[in-house]
Amino acid sequence: MEIREMLYEGKAKRLYSTDDPEVLYLEYKNSLTAFNAKKKAEMEGKGELNNLISSWIFKYLSKKGIESHFIEKINDNCQTVKPVTIVPLEVVLRNVTAGSICKRLGLEQGMKLSRPLIEFYYKEDELDDPLVLEDHALLFGWATEEDLKTMKEITLKVNDALIELFDSIDIDLVDFKLEFGKDSDGKIILADEVSPDTCRYWEKGTGKSLDKDRFRKDMGDVLGAYREIWRRLSERGE
Ligand code: C5P
Repeated sequence: MEIREMLYEGKAKRLYSTDDPEVLYLEYKNSLTAFNAKKKAEMEGKGELNNLISSWIFKYLSKKGIESHFIEKINDNCQTVKPVTIVPLEVVLRNVTAGSICKRLGLEQGMKLSRPLIEFYYKEDELDDPLVLEDHALLFGWATEEDLKTMKEITLKVNDALIELFDSIDIDLVDFKLEFGKDSDGKIILADEVSPDTCRYWEKGTGKSLDKDRFRKDMGDVLGAYREIWRRLSERGE
């Protein structure tokens, strides 16, 4: 496979075309950003850990019947993925209150919700990815009714699969963010990544954060937490 031009550079990844139109090359960077990149850092080894964790989780989800753009892990920092047209919505699912919902609604952190809450955010850095209604997505053409229905169904399935997975390694899945894209057949599949950058993981018993909140809140040992997630996943076996 020959890597060609860089198509996109995001806060945590770079995407390249290859000589095969059905294959893109996704490189995980060592940068960590929070609050829409108002806070930034470089951490050697972070890209490798997220590539390992995200590849592992996409493979696990595929075994549970959930399709994603992931093809295979190529080397430490890179994986190949299918080209998709990204739906400009971030889908957040919450099992427990934390982060922006607490700030926005004046809620205490750590309240277990009686059922999963799904929220949509408009993917637009300049606007700080605002929370939007489904009707906004429909009226402004970001997604169709069918797309929203499919994304919600897949998000709930991902939640069930990830709760089962993280339960088995003594971690509570607090919340996570997913992105979706349409493949060449127009089918909606998971895209982007599923990693400690995009999820909240709390260790059962201690409540210790094992995710990007360690960076957001200056809790220290960010990479130690990511390494711990990888250790538990890899020791669990597939
Ligand atoms: O910040 P907030 O509480 O809304 O985040 C909810 C979940 O979505 C967290 O797991 C966070 O890591 C993830 N998220 C993300 N990318 C964003 C916003 C949130 O991965 N741009």
